[in-house]
Amino acid sequence: MTMKILKPTLKNIKKAAHYLNIGELVGIPTETVYGLAANTFNTEAVLKIFKTKNRPTFDPLIVHISTKILKCKNILLELENNNLICLDTFTQKAKTRAKKLMLKFWPGPLTLVLPKHNAVPDIVTSGLPTIAIRMPNHKVTQQLLSLIKFPLAAPSANLFGKISPTTALHVLSELGNNVAMILDGGTCPIGIESTVIFVHPGGQLTLLRPGGLKLSQIEKIANTRVHQKQRSLEHKNHPSSPGMLESHYAPKKPLYMLTKSILHLNKKDFKKLKILIKDSLQEILSTKTCKENNLPQIGLLVMRGDAKQKARKFATQLGFPVKVKLLSSKGNDQESAKNFFSSLRKLDVSPTFILFSEPCLNTKGLFHAIADRLKKASNKI
Ligand code: TXA
Ligand code: MG
Repeated sequence: MTMKILKPTLKNIKKAAHYLNIGELVGIPTETVYGLAANTFNTEAVLKIFKTKNRPTFDPLIVHISTKILKCKNILLELENNNLICLDTFTQKAKTRAKKLMLKFWPGPLTLVLPKHNAVPDIVTSGLPTIAIRMPNHKVTQQLLSLIKFPLAAPSANLFGKISPTTALHVLSELGNNVAMILDGGTCPIGIESTVIFVHPGGQLTLLRPGGLKLSQIEKIANTRVHQKQRSLEHKNHPSSPGMLESHYAPKKPLYMLTKSILHLNKKDFKKLKILIKDSLQEILSTKTCKENNLPQIGLLVMRGDAKQKARKFATQLGFPVKVKLLSSKGNDQESAKNFFSSLRKLDVSPTFILFSEPCLNTKGLFHAIADRLKKASNKI
């Protein structure tokens, strides 16, 4: 099976192009997370994405485009000529704003939701009148896009609702049986998905999902505030972005977000944790998923600081060995984002039976996206 992960040589990138041309799925690296790609204009191939991921068809995909478009005089017109968007309802203000954002942040972790062209199959956009587009900043995938004649519809290459993949091996372990091949582009440098922005025909901007591009940077270039989506206005079964779904990005093991940093937990807090641990352990023993010769561990995700000291206190109080993953010793947002999904995944595949995470109290910069993912991946205590 590991034969499916291929080094990004020209021969292998051509091979990926071939698979995509014949309607197969390919795992692709991007600067954010790995994607599961198909030809946007091939309905059957796109359907395979939904089936492979076990993704509900109400959850639309992002379409990935080539940097070639940047060389065109009018990037918006070029997207329209490529049968991706339709500018009929767009005001001049909306056009100017969208163009500014594209020219500044593409290629990069910004997805723009724009009015859709009729030629785009409905399955790609889940029947919505809009289409999400981004230009990935990864040389392997850009080389691939330069060899094919269509843009790539690609969600993150994980099973629906699960942890996003940041290496080719992650994709293989989750979807390996159902992809033709995976291009190995190394570890994703950003590690968290793109920021998704809805561009209204009048030019207003709404944040649908915080991500790898900071909101402050978008607001500065667009010279306007970006509105935040009201969760209460969302329809439960048809959210405007799956980032809006209650549970997402979740590990297989139960994950609980603590209410405060480990060092501040008091006796009462530990009492509550012990009850959760007891229940989880009982459940795991009854389903016999815990191997007898593996001493069950508690997984712990810490945000910053001296992880060893924290883990020692945690383990002593709870009476179990603790496997710790640290996002960033100095609390750097980029380092934390890069480590976030891979750390959760490592804790999940370790012989743990329950996972805890410190809360992400900082919401500045990329911590905005990390706090969002953590909230959706975890249960409340
Ligand atoms: O960084 C990324 O965005 C990665 C890489 C692979 O490019 N892709 C990714 O795709 O995260 P996915 O499917 O996991 O998330 C796509 C997001 C969802 O929140 C989806 O609802 C939103 O984009 N989306 C797509 N089309 C939309 C539309 N027409 N209107 C509103 N939201 C849309
Ligand atoms: Mg995803």
